[in-house]
Amino acid sequence: MTALAVENVCKNFGGVAALAGVSFDVNEGERRVLLGPNGAGKTTLFHTISGNLMPSAGRVALFGLDITRLRPDLRARHGLARTFQITNLFPRLTVLDSVLLALGGIDGQRLQLFQPPSRQRTRYGEAARLLDRWGLAGTAERIVRTLSYGEQRQLEIALALAGKPRLLLLDEPTAGLSPAETRRVVALVRELPRDMTILMIEHDMDVAFELADRIAVMHQGRLIAEGDEAAIRANQQVTDIYLGAE
Ligand SMILES: Nc1ncnc2c1ncn2[C@@H]1O[C@H](COP(=O)(O)OP(=O)(O)OP(=O)(O)O)[C@@H](O)[C@H]1O
Ligand SMILES: [Mg+2]
Repeated sequence: MTALAVENVCKNFGGVAALAGVSFDVNEGERRVLLGPNGAGKTTLFHTISGNLMPSAGRVALFGLDITRLRPDLRARHGLARTFQITNLFPRLTVLDSVLLALGGIDGQRLQLFQPPSRQRTRYGEAARLLDRWGLAGTAERIVRTLSYGEQRQLEIALALAGKPRLLLLDEPTAGLSPAETRRVVALVRELPRDMTILMIEHDMDVAFELADRIAVMHQGRLIAEGDEAAIRANQQVTDIYLGAE
């Protein structure tokens, strides 16, 4: 089944075509990495998939459902979750409260002050498991803004996972992390359930090749290459862009 279908998506900012007609499919359970130099349009593409930006033209479908004009929160209910290139956390909440909020938000229920104790226990248990898994158990009572940058990035992924998404979008999850933190995030992403579809923007080629089943490369608002590691490494245009950029 196709998890994500992007068809001829365009986005203009004034005179700039940030996306000049991008089309590709991601299959259910696939791990796809999006590569491309700065300004290629990768984050803009994510915004059109998550609903934070409306495309100027084109269509986005999630598991066969046309979501092009759907509100972001409704996309989440259909199984979509994302992280942002710049962290997008509530800085004044504790880590535990952030996770509880994320878990509450996905039940399709209003936050309830008077929930049955059994339900609260379940939710605390789930929050504790999630934090434990992401190595954040020791930070539960801390205020988010006092966490290190690396911890904040990891918390952001943990929060995106709270809704048990079917399609997870990660925008440069290892950017700014130390080599040890990067290894940790790569290992955790590898361990995510195989039926979860992942589309990830990544600058680090080694991380990209380690995690991806297939890779797509963007340049100047267009998709210029798609394929497995061998195909991408052998692609002359990709080599030119990366050698030209570095
Ligand atoms: N809100 C905006 N208003 C105007 N121009 C924008 C806006 N957002 C992005 N752009 C422009 O669109 C182009 C694509 O930007 P985008 O952030 O999608 O690139 P990117 O591939 O994510 O780059 P990076 O690797 O640096 O994160 C760039 O030329 C950028 O300046
Ligand atoms: Mg970006």
